[in-house]
Amino acid sequence: MPEYGEPVIETNQLTKVYSGFMRPEVLAVDRLDLTVGRGEVFGLLGPNGSGKTTTTKLLLGLIFPTSGSATVLGKPAGDIEVKNKLGFLPEESYLYRFLNAEETLDFCGRIFGIPRPERKKRIDELIELVGLQGARKRALRGYSKGMSRRIGLAQALVNDPELIFLDEPTSGLDPIGRREVKQLIGRLKDLGKTVMLCTHLLPDVQDVCDRIAILHNGRLVEEGSLDELLMVKNQTQLTIDNLTESEQKRLVELLAEMGHDHPDIVHPYDTLSSLFMRIIESERQRDRAKNQEEVDAAAS
Ligand SMILES: Nc1ncnc2c1ncn2[C@@H]1O[C@H](COP(=O)(O)OP(=O)(O)OP(=O)(O)O)[C@@H](O)[C@H]1O
Ligand SMILES: [Mg+2]
Repeated sequence: MPEYGEPVIETNQLTKVYSGFMRPEVLAVDRLDLTVGRGEVFGLLGPNGSGKTTTTKLLLGLIFPTSGSATVLGKPAGDIEVKNKLGFLPEESYLYRFLNAEETLDFCGRIFGIPRPERKKRIDELIELVGLQGARKRALRGYSKGMSRRIGLAQALVNDPELIFLDEPTSGLDPIGRREVKQLIGRLKDLGKTVMLCTHLLPDVQDVCDRIAILHNGRLVEEGSLDELLMVKNQTQLTIDNLTESEQKRLVELLAEMGHDHPDIVHPYDTLSSLFMRIIESERQRDRAKNQEEVDAAAS
């Protein structure tokens, strides 16, 4: 298991009860003990209503615990100095719909007090990073769901945060957008950032997370490294290209001699997502080639 740096998130019996006038109380987070190390991509998983968003809001200092405590980057959750080092993509975007991508990021950059020349450079980098070059001047009200998620991601990174909270970052994205977000998370990890990812889209988690915690009714029910949790330690799988029938027969005999009767022999299936990705990629290549042909024809 890889070693991670010092803890950047630590919670100690963190508890949140929502209470309101004439409303029943809701125990949203129940005595949660969590530790996230620097450089990790940490997945906070759980079904709808299990407390993921509430935990994120507690860590960001947007709401306060009923009991227990949390430290973020070594300071109590909500510390003003620390807030400058955090990035947050909320579950739902609260961005101004009449601003375009550049204006949105400029506005966010100004809130963080980033000087103008640096802001401009950063905006270009971020728009490129999330793939919104073609729509940078379009007002957000004209954005598709996936584009809204992308601009949300860009605004979460405007202050070059050390620790980034992403609440359902891939919701509303097509498989290609999801892959791009996963690649982006990988890039953030390579830059030494820590990412806390809340989601119930399990394949996304499996692709990017180092460690996960599973919440159920606000309680931590499982925690650990993905490898540790998913590996079936007493089974071994061999994948062999172009095995002939006679070779397979010999292999089965050999295994039987070693006492391993009736091995499970199957042809693996491709995943639907990689099939989809391959088809779309080849269509895109065809489009590019066709465009190039047209350009060449027009030039000659
Ligand atoms: N402001 C609030 N007032 C009262 N109850 C709330 C409030 N916010 C959340 N809850 C309740 O707290 C519990 C946890 O909600 P939370 O939004 O943290 O779950 P979640 O795991 O993020 O769910 P989802 O996957 O649907 O986003 C739920 O029962 C929810 O109804
Ligand atoms: Mg949520």
